[in-house]
Amino acid sequence: MTFARTADPATTASHAVGAATELFRSLTGSDPVGVWSAPGRANLIGEHTDYNDGFVLPFAIQHRTAAAARLRTDGRIRVASTFAAEPVEVALDDLETLFPSDGAPRVAEWAAYPLGVAWALRALVPAWAAGTFAGVDIAIASDVPVGAGLSSSAAIEGATGAALNELWGLGLDPVALAQAGRRAENEAVGAPTGIMDQMASTLGQADAAVFLDCRTLDTRAIPLGFAEAGLEVLVIDTGVKHAHSTGGYRERRESCERGAAALGVAALRDVAVADLPRAAELLDEVDFRRVRHVVTEDQRVLDTVAALAAHGPRAIGALLVASHVSMRDDFEISIPELDTAVDTALAHGAIGARMTGGGFGGAAIALVDHDRVPAVAEAVRVAFAEAGFAEPHLFTVVPSAGPHRDV
Ligand code: GLA
Repeated sequence: MTFARTADPATTASHAVGAATELFRSLTGSDPVGVWSAPGRANLIGEHTDYNDGFVLPFAIQHRTAAAARLRTDGRIRVASTFAAEPVEVALDDLETLFPSDGAPRVAEWAAYPLGVAWALRALVPAWAAGTFAGVDIAIASDVPVGAGLSSSAAIEGATGAALNELWGLGLDPVALAQAGRRAENEAVGAPTGIMDQMASTLGQADAAVFLDCRTLDTRAIPLGFAEAGLEVLVIDTGVKHAHSTGGYRERRESCERGAAALGVAALRDVAVADLPRAAELLDEVDFRRVRHVVTEDQRVLDTVAALAAHGPRAIGALLVASHVSMRDDFEISIPELDTAVDTALAHGAIGARMTGGGFGGAAIALVDHDRVPAVAEAVRVAFAEAGFAEPHLFTVVPSAGPHRDV
């Protein structure tokens, strides 16, 4: 059986914490002064709305990334990861030179995430310029599946940010840490993403989703009540890897910007469903469908929040399915594996299902009755085998808490 029931969140966290601690010891020969961890996320609904100033409804998951860290006195920062053969070390004063505004980072991509966070925190804290920051060693380990659309990158940013926030005594709140993470991703790594993933990670709460207005950055915790309703969230990771620093993600974003400009608004957030006929007249056929996805998806997020409050999680299935159809047909970011995952889960009794995250690979989520989870998982596995797809990775996730210090 390839399906694993939700691991105990405490066990999952301690796995990454233990691995980061071990790596730190082998890197430095001493113990870290502390270990901080931050979660990945699944997005319940609201896809490609964040960079359009719209609404999203993600939740942090129990899979976490841990950063074991300790200050050093020589003004240098060294990062190591269980994913990488070699650590990367640089003087804090030279971080700038790693991330030219007009080109790719001059450092291995994995290291651009933690080093990018250190660099972004500098901009937030004027004291940096006066050279008051000590150097630091950081060792990173993660239980968040990479490339699955579950924001392994936001988890690295969140864990690194939590560690540096405390070690450097910055006193930044979760929103500021999310902004630093996004800046690292946009300007250090070069992926033109929105802020959903970082906000979901830094503001995650057990049993709740983060309802985020991406224009104002106002958030509200929305109780999900999955367990009380006898429901579980099954993740179907297709194993098809994606990257948002290249290709389709950027093109979709450009379509949205063209749409907003043609409609004379600051962002697609300002377009209502009732304005779509006018958009159809002004835009070419492809840009119109991109715009229609974003505008209707914003409305679906608001409808999901309302349905959860009024009727509970069993009432949101049709909205999840409509979101997937919109991403498949209008935004065109799904792939055959994700469509098969969604269709098969629904055919075997899922209440709702959709791809989650940026698309072009990654994972789908399905909302499934507790008792039916093994049957749905098995049906998906069989459908993938029959279609000749690689075997999917199947596991359940639970809405979980944001960053904290573990040790
Ligand atoms: C990725 C990005 C997010 C968001 C989603 C799509 O996860 O990092 O900012 O745009 O894609 O909703």
